Amino acid sequence: RMRSVLRGCGSYLPARIMTNAELAQKVDTSDEWIVQRTGIHARHIAADDETTGTLGLKAAEAALADAGIPASEVDLIIVATATPDHTFPATATQIQAALGVTQGAAFDLQAVCSGFVFALATADKFLTSGAAKTAIVIGAETFSRILDWDDRATCVLFGDGAGAVVLRAEEGAGTLADRGVLTTHVRSDGRYMNKLYVDGGPGSTKTVGFLRMEGREVFKHAVVNLADTVRHTFEETGLTGSDIDWFVPHQANRRIIDATAHKLGISEDRVVVTVGEHGNTSAASIPLALAQAHMDGRIKPGQLVLIEAMGGGFTWGSALIRW
Ligand code: ACO
Repeated sequence: RMRSVLRGCGSYLPARIMTNAELAQKVDTSDEWIVQRTGIHARHIAADDETTGTLGLKAAEAALADAGIPASEVDLIIVATATPDHTFPATATQIQAALGVTQGAAFDLQAVCSGFVFALATADKFLTSGAAKTAIVIGAETFSRILDWDDRATCVLFGDGAGAVVLRAEEGAGTLADRGVLTTHVRSDGRYMNKLYVDGGPGSTKTVGFLRMEGREVFKHAVVNLADTVRHTFEETGLTGSDIDWFVPHQANRRIIDATAHKLGISEDRVVVTVGEHGNTSAASIPLALAQAHMDGRIKPGQLVLIEAMGGGFTWGSALIRW
């Protein structure tokens, strides 16, 4: 049985850091309010000449370097993003060209904050079916461009950044001891669109639009849906929270992360948390967190890593990876 083995991981954050104190000069908020409700202290913001494509490219290059795999071997590039550089073509094809890749396929995938989980699940199907051999899965976002900077309820929550992983199709034994993506689950339910959406687009205002959110409602659904998707993983594999070496959740909010880890029986010292310094970077948050924990030596080869996310749509999902 073929497995999608994770060969490398990389990330990129814009240099510019915006603190809560700086935000408090723009809107009626405070460091104390933001930290208490979200755990966020600061976020990175793209410079005028930076885009989702340029951030994603740097993350992809870092992941390829970490893997020691040349770009010429890549035959699948998926970019999970809700903030593409252009309405079309896909940001993935721009990154493909910048990497000098002319074979295989590149496309964007839109599942907002769950985008990386959906893209990983999609790449896994390509690799395990034999449709591709070497994939880069990128989560890249510039949410600063779709924020209403006068809306204190949303502008304090998000940041920009990108992360990427390189996956390669390799023979496995078909057991949970195999390295690679062991299982993925993805879900969506479009009835909840109005809880979290962007009010623009070609089919509405014909402008890019701004993010709109009913925060309390999103919070409630997030904790329920995230526990539910991971429960499927546990049922399928016979594992429990205590078997997980590292829990790397989508980084939306410290309180959602803590509540979910508690529900799943995963102890605090096994949770990778980056939301404090990154804010919510949507589809980029999981690969950014994976890259950080990989680089600082926390995640070691052979360990079990559980990822999960929930976002606009609603969309949600999870994946279990043996590193
Ligand atoms: N600073 C100060 N006060 C604020 C701010 C702010 N930045 N934002 C809102 N408030 C005020 C509100 O105006 C409201 O005041 P009022 O009572 O006078 O009307 C009060 O704070 C409470 O507002 P709520 O929205 O009810 O606050 P809540 O406790 O729910 O916290 C928050 C808001 C942090 C957004 C919370 O609902 C949350 O974390 N939701 C999850 C949303 C999320 O993470 N979304 C990310 C995308 S989806 C995902 O990735 C999972």
